[in-house]
Amino acid sequence: MSIQQNRINELVERRAAAKLGGGQKRIDAQHQKGKLTARERLERLLDAGSFEEFDMFVQHRCTNFGMDAKHVDGDGVVTGQGTIDGRLVYVFAQDFTVSGGSLSKTMSEKICKVMDLAVRSGAPLIGLNDSGGARIQEGIDALAGYGDIFERNILASGVVPQISGIFGPCAGGAVYSPALTDFTLMVKNTSYMFLTGPSVVKSVTGEEVTQEELGGAAVHASKSGVAHFAAASEDEGIATIRELLGFLPQNNREEAPFLPTNDPVSRVDDALNEIVPDNPNKSYDMYRVIAGIVDDGRFFEVHKDFARNIIVGFAHMNGRSVGVVANQPQVLAGVLDINASRKAARFVRFCDAFNIPLVTLVDVPGFLCGTQQEYGAIITNGAKLLYAYGEATVPKVTVTLRKSYGGAHIVMSCKQLRGDINYAWPSAEIAVMGAKGAVEVLKDVEEQEYNDLFCNPYQAAQKGYIEDIIEPRNTRFRVIRALETLAGKHQEVPAKKHDNLPL
Ligand code: HXC
Repeated sequence: MSIQQNRINELVERRAAAKLGGGQKRIDAQHQKGKLTARERLERLLDAGSFEEFDMFVQHRCTNFGMDAKHVDGDGVVTGQGTIDGRLVYVFAQDFTVSGGSLSKTMSEKICKVMDLAVRSGAPLIGLNDSGGARIQEGIDALAGYGDIFERNILASGVVPQISGIFGPCAGGAVYSPALTDFTLMVKNTSYMFLTGPSVVKSVTGEEVTQEELGGAAVHASKSGVAHFAAASEDEGIATIRELLGFLPQNNREEAPFLPTNDPVSRVDDALNEIVPDNPNKSYDMYRVIAGIVDDGRFFEVHKDFARNIIVGFAHMNGRSVGVVANQPQVLAGVLDINASRKAARFVRFCDAFNIPLVTLVDVPGFLCGTQQEYGAIITNGAKLLYAYGEATVPKVTVTLRKSYGGAHIVMSCKQLRGDINYAWPSAEIAVMGAKGAVEVLKDVEEQEYNDLFCNPYQAAQKGYIEDIIEPRNTRFRVIRALETLAGKHQEVPAKKHDNLPL
């Protein structure tokens, strides 16, 4: 055999060995926990045959605690590039079979390399986390590695979409990389995120809590809002990431991909003419309205289980990606509270950063009142949403379906926050407050008189605060036409180093 052939054979063998990570035993252990390996995850995430791996032979440089005798090619993370639906993405997936996926300085260098490439090439970054945190044997070097990653997360923010999948442990300061990215997805029962685990919590606060109760997917998807998605399985999680990317552009200079549809622009939905109940205290389902106006009724929801009084997510309208923000009258009457404001503000800012037009559907009775909300800073949190809409320069089309009262009216993409096209249904009530509240303050005013004057869209229409009052069944057509006329929109903001949004 020639020397060259020997060398090629050696390469093939070394590649095969590197692909086994921490070895078959640990791979089996990973499977027994109901988890996939890093490579299996990437295989499912990326288009078949598209993955190109980088730094497969990289090894750590630690000599402490006998680590110089423990080398595994790749050092616990698989990194590289591939495509999803034919579009370039950069990826890293931590390999729990190698030192529990713990982060060494070398691992961070591998991750930073793909992060830098993602920004330079203008392509999304997807990180799949499954790690015991900082590699303890490396001490401060491992911490520095996290710092390097965090800094890149920050610099990449608003430049390329960043998506974090949590497929195992993610604890301690390691949680801050996902927190800095745009979307975090967790897998139920096999992933968790917390700053300190149950045993530390017990010793510090005396509180007894399981891993799942403290930082499982269900908790973060419904209570803290840390996770935007909670998948029932790894396969579902990977499919969700792939689907999400279909609504996003590659970077902040591009448009999201066009998705052709057979759903006619002029499709009317007669049921929308009847959807708002005559009784203002009765609710209806905002999901039905969204389905009635977007292409093929297909809505990709973000933060589905968190702050359900507001709905946010992506859809297509005549093939173009849009961000939908809608109050949900079925949950807390659609009131804006701290969590709803935070949730929608973050979504609006994402859409604005990535050129995705905003469609806002309004039915909001106001902000939630009371000590809990005030002590929790509803003022600052409500201002986040106000700020997000006010600074957004993407096309903004707003439809007021029913209530639009007080401060909440202003916040929900009103004209004065540079709303481009604002429509109202005939059932809209655009006013300082509802009739009941108003007559309690203004004792000499009759409820009927107030209703006649304010609880309709005509005051707003007379003053040009809305462009038109539209028939509900025509909403799809009207919104699409508005979006198409705004496709070339360009709006500047005053020069500044950066803003100081109320955090
Ligand atoms: C080095 C680690 C490690 C770590 C796990 N391993 N975590 N090695 N540094 N942080 C190794 C284990 O020694 C073991 O090696 C292998 O990975 C698998 O770990 P197990 O404990 O056997 O697995 P499991 O029972 O599934 O438990 C997983 C775990 C546990 C819950 C993640 O390993 C654990 O608690 N790890 C430590 C977590 C931690 O405290 N990390 C530091 C957080 S602070 P062998 O060879 O024995 O199989 C932090 C700061 C970041 O991360 C700051 C950023 C600013």
